[in-house]
Amino acid sequence: MSSVSTASNAVSGSYTLHHGNARQLLQQYPDSHFDSLVADGPYELGFMGRAWDRSGIVNDPAFWAECLRVLKPGAHLVNFSHARTYHRMACAVEDAGFELRDQLMWLYGSGFPKSKNLAGDWDGWGTALKPAHEPIVLARKPLEKGLTVADNVAKWGTGALHIDACRVNPGEFTKTGGRSSRGHGGVYGDGMAPSGFEAHDNGRWPANLLHDGSAAVLAGFPDEAGARAAVLGTEPSSSSKMGPHVYDGGQMRNQARERRDDLGSAARFFYCAKASRADRNEGLPSYDAPAVGSNATMGQRERADWPARNGNHHPTVKPTRLMRWLCRLITPPSGRIVDPFAGSGSTGKAGLLEGFDVVLMELQAEHLPLITGRCDHALDVRRRYLAQLARQARIGTQTTLFSLAS
Ligand SMILES: C[S@@+](CC[C@H](N)C(=O)[O-])C[C@H]1O[C@@H](n2cnc3c(N)ncnc32)[C@H](O)[C@@H]1O
Repeated sequence: MSSVSTASNAVSGSYTLHHGNARQLLQQYPDSHFDSLVADGPYELGFMGRAWDRSGIVNDPAFWAECLRVLKPGAHLVNFSHARTYHRMACAVEDAGFELRDQLMWLYGSGFPKSKNLAGDWDGWGTALKPAHEPIVLARKPLEKGLTVADNVAKWGTGALHIDACRVNPGEFTKTGGRSSRGHGGVYGDGMAPSGFEAHDNGRWPANLLHDGSAAVLAGFPDEAGARAAVLGTEPSSSSKMGPHVYDGGQMRNQARERRDDLGSAARFFYCAKASRADRNEGLPSYDAPAVGSNATMGQRERADWPARNGNHHPTVKPTRLMRWLCRLITPPSGRIVDPFAGSGSTGKAGLLEGFDVVLMELQAEHLPLITGRCDHALDVRRRYLAQLARQARIGTQTTLFSLAS
């Protein structure tokens, strides 16, 4: 197998990086080998003139059929796409035999309209809208024939989503308004908690809408009273046999549940800004001066000398926090993730910080040092974090994985 790099640390997590075409590389893996697939495949638009972004691979059911084969029954995949090309990719995923389970939308405020604006009599007319979202397909390999979801999860570890690991704004300390509750053991009912009751909140049920927290996006979420309603006790989580929990670096802790009082309705949704410079470059040699200013046009971005100015010159880096959330959502604890389109290794970095094993595939040799630099750094952060946890356990204090960088 054409592994160019394998690294692990003694406590948890490892990554294997393959240089080559994912079509061939996947063939080297046995059936039912991976627990999830987390990818940001080509959008098939020829982005910034890149040949890798117009090969047609993600529109080819044969490619996804190979992904289906190497995933365990019930395993999920997520893959990013573009508003213009999502439909072809999603059909190919479905034609290959996956069940389309959902479409996630990541809303952002930083897009530039690539519009040809007309002049003269047609002044005020153009050809494109401002891009403000990226769709993400969520699909699942069918469960093993004859098994229920619970049976499939018991046998393979796959088939369900890790809702409690992805709740929105978990662990907040809230104070109630003093009204008494009805139903659900006095915790939820109409959303009110017992008088004077204080507790840590378990977080909101994750939605299929995510956003970048930018002013442009937040402006679209009004602060009306209804948007601030508490999580109801009727959500499936409240009757989950696991009960209310908070995810804490792979461990679940029991939590009392409580009325929320979020400011603004956007707080109902997971939020993650676009990748920061620090996030892109952690683990890489980089330079102080950014390649382009934050308000640069698409043309300036395309002409900028990224390799000379910026450690991570990949043009489509995804933020680690978003990728961690996606990895957690669809991967069982200590599971094995495959990313056939590694890019600069954002899935790798995210998966390793979460303690997963990650197998990465990348076509372009120029991206390989970015991947190894970022993944080695993530392994080191994780190792130091676990050492810190062990120290704190000895002296009886607590920390959470959310305190890790990115
Ligand atoms: C959209 S980028 C992924 C960027 C990544 N999310 C990141 O944060 O850096 C897609 C990557 O897939 C790679 N790629 C495209 N076709 C491929 C193929 N057939 N096999 C392996 N990698 C491929 C490209 O070289 C590119 O780096």
